[in-house]
Amino acid sequence: MGKLYILGISGSLRAGSFNRMALSLAGELMPENMVLEVEEWREFPIYDEDTQASGIPPAVQTFADRVRHSDAVLFATPEYNFSLPGGLKNAIDWVSRIDSQPFAEKPVALLSASAGPLGGARVQYDLRRVMMSLNAMMMGRPEVFIGSAQTKFDLGGGCCTDDATRGFVAAQMVAFERWIRYVKAGQR
Ligand code: FNR
Repeated sequence: MGKLYILGISGSLRAGSFNRMALSLAGELMPENMVLEVEEWREFPIYDEDTQASGIPPAVQTFADRVRHSDAVLFATPEYNFSLPGGLKNAIDWVSRIDSQPFAEKPVALLSASAGPLGGARVQYDLRRVMMSLNAMMMGRPEVFIGSAQTKFDLGGGCCTDDATRGFVAAQMVAFERWIRYVKAGQR
């Protein structure tokens, strides 16, 4: 079976982000024929239809091209005020304005991490709703919520020190590979 290229998108940009650590963990635990590359949206301007009218910003175009050329997308995001971080929503809004927007029919999985006990449970359903509007092929289960993340990652190196979390993420990545191959088989 061919290699699958997975584009990782973090909803948090901060250097010590637990969600970036969760993405790295997913990359580490993916089946060996999956490869993770993380893409950032730090340079995106605030979405404005007037800005779009003068051309898609290069950072947006590059990001959208990477989404298009990936086999699948993996989001790891915190919950901000019970919903999506504004920067992540802004990034998705920009990409949604590209001709033949590239999230359409793309296999997508998500996980979330938070210092709080719920692990970002609420953001996942809002992100799912947004991605449904773009006709992404959202994997349903297994869901992964990493609560009390500060107790599960080594804050210096970012390595996950919690065996249960490692097990949940590994199982999700195995299911993700199956989901991607299932969706792609239906698209031939
Ligand atoms: C938060 N945080 C948070 N946590 C949560 O579980 N539910 C929430 O609604 C919120 N709301 C919220 C709003 C804002 C503006 C910030 C900055 C933070 C806490 C947040 O989940 C926590 O800081 C995570 O660790 C942030 O993710 P990263 O940066 O570690 O990936």
